[in-house]
Amino acid sequence: MLTRRQLLTRAAALPLVAGAGGALASAQARSLTAAATALQIAPPDYPRTPVWAYNGQVPGEQLRYRQGEVLDVRFVNGLDEGSTIHWHGLRLPNAMDGVPYMTQAPVMPGESFDYRFALRDAGTFWYHPHANSVEQISRGLAGVLVVDEATPPDVDRDEVLVLDDWRMTETAEIHPSFGHRHDMSHAGRLGNYVTVNARDDLSYQVRTGERLRLRLVNTATARIFRLALQGMQGWVVALDGMPLPAPQPASELVIAPAQRADLIVDITAADEALIASVERQGTFALVSFAVSGAPLAPRPTPGPLPPNDLPSLDLSAARSYPLVMEGGAMRGLPEGAIWDGRKLGFRELAEQGQFWAFNGIAGSTETPFLSAALGETVRIPITNRTAWFHAMHLHGMHFREVLADGSFGPWRDTLLIAPDESREIAFVADNPGDWMFHCHMPSHQMSGMMNWVQVT
Ligand code: C2O
Ligand code: CU
Repeated sequence: MLTRRQLLTRAAALPLVAGAGGALASAQARSLTAAATALQIAPPDYPRTPVWAYNGQVPGEQLRYRQGEVLDVRFVNGLDEGSTIHWHGLRLPNAMDGVPYMTQAPVMPGESFDYRFALRDAGTFWYHPHANSVEQISRGLAGVLVVDEATPPDVDRDEVLVLDDWRMTETAEIHPSFGHRHDMSHAGRLGNYVTVNARDDLSYQVRTGERLRLRLVNTATARIFRLALQGMQGWVVALDGMPLPAPQPASELVIAPAQRADLIVDITAADEALIASVERQGTFALVSFAVSGAPLAPRPTPGPLPPNDLPSLDLSAARSYPLVMEGGAMRGLPEGAIWDGRKLGFRELAEQGQFWAFNGIAGSTETPFLSAALGETVRIPITNRTAWFHAMHLHGMHFREVLADGSFGPWRDTLLIAPDESREIAFVADNPGDWMFHCHMPSHQMSGMMNWVQVT
């Protein structure tokens, strides 16, 4: 039986954040309650789907602030199990990062936790639980956090597009196969029903020449979206929340789990424009834009978004911490791996639900993968010896890819690495604390692909 729980609202406003010389404006306090509900996610001829939702919505209620404001959110746990909120991609104080047993105790059923921190970066971010992640995210817990620039770009419309997929049963229930060994050791929990903003028929009315800012966010647990833009001219203006120095023309783009891409697009079609998903079996529409009305005058190429205050990277004194990813189906862990302080063979690891290792270690350990002094620049050459894609995510700091010619790629918080690929990232360890470093396909994360970085 489905129960729609009472949403708890916040009783009293909390005092403003101390410190920061009072220079930061504190936005209104608000609350996010995670609780079970039922929503129409499958097409209308199916029943409503029992989900877990933030404030009764999937995607979770959209949070929107201006750069420099203080986010002040009381998380209320209306679930029957512990949870937290992780603010994905935000450069925030470690205690606000929402990682249970690392930065805070899990928030138990009926309890609450106050997240409060200054939003130093403008951009497109998202929030999700960091507990029992395969199940909690797959059941619907994920929402978008938009931080607006002081002077946003001149567009006619600004839309958030949350890309997701669902593993549904024939009666539109979320398939309860959260600990599926096959998912863990293969491509993760892929769905059978793809949605944008939790629907499969999202469409907008536009005019030719209309300029839109589209904030694409992939909240899926495993699906890598390959998108094609049709009937529109597009530029990527930011990745993972961080503006590019110059807009990059885009007709196709790849968005891995947890990644974001901000686009500025001009509708060029006279009848219909599309964002399409490019699959092996063909291309199908994810979002449609029906064109009507008098065309608008064409606009000049968009300029860059105002940059966020990111450090400069100088590799001359940087230490290098190589990371080798191994395991999963096809290759396995023939040498075994260390898990929970013990060396285990492949079979014993599988019995523990562990299929992957970073540098011969499955799962998190007492000692971090990397320990950096505050302000130090570090580089991580990553070798993917598995037969699978992985989306490596670092908490608390953004990194840049070190490209073959020694130049740097864009600032990111999540990097997609193909099978047998070697890629290198570098970052300035300028945010003190203990930060997770893991694959953002939670099925992989829970089965070995998780470690942490310490900055002191
Ligand atoms: Cu989106 Cu460990 O996080
Ligand atoms: Cu992975």
